[in-house]
Amino acid sequence: MKIAVYPGSFDPITKGHTDVIARAAGLFDELIIAVSENPNKSPMFTAAERVLLIEESVKHIESGNCKIRVMSHDGLLVDFVRHCKAAFIVKGLRAISDFESEFQMASANQKLAPELDSVFIMTRVEYMYLSSSMVKEIAKYQGDISALVGPHVVEAMDEKFNRGMIL
Ligand code: PNS
Repeated sequence: MKIAVYPGSFDPITKGHTDVIARAAGLFDELIIAVSENPNKSPMFTAAERVLLIEESVKHIESGNCKIRVMSHDGLLVDFVRHCKAAFIVKGLRAISDFESEFQMASANQKLAPELDSVFIMTRVEYMYLSSSMVKEIAKYQGDISALVGPHVVEAMDEKFNRGMIL
């Protein structure tokens, strides 16, 4: 059984994330999407909301024999990965600018848990520029985010903004 954990803030999940999930599903028997609670980042959506948005986003993915699960976690990623009995951490890699921080995180995780491997999936060119922060920035100014996130995410963001939330 090849089990992998795909961790992130997913605040909110974008089409770039969904693409990485679909492709990772072709590589592993089980893929656990791990939503980091990370209160330091003051996320727009609660962890529970982010889990629901991801579940809706991955529903349509033809995952073949791969079982996809979505969970939230707090604390060290490697502890969660070990708890899941996974051997791999999946991350998406966009531009070179991602490399430095991803290299740093992968190195720290390797030091903490040498038995785990980080696996990087190169983002498709059309999603190279896409990030959750960019989606929030565009939505904040009433821009059209429908090409960047699923329709249920557009709806959830509209709801947040209608409630007068300030980013
Ligand atoms: O989507 P993001 O914000 O780039 O994801 C970052 C995340 C959640 C994967 C990273 O911050 C993380 O692994 N946090 C858990 C805490 C941890 O284990 N830190 C040490 C490894 S760098």
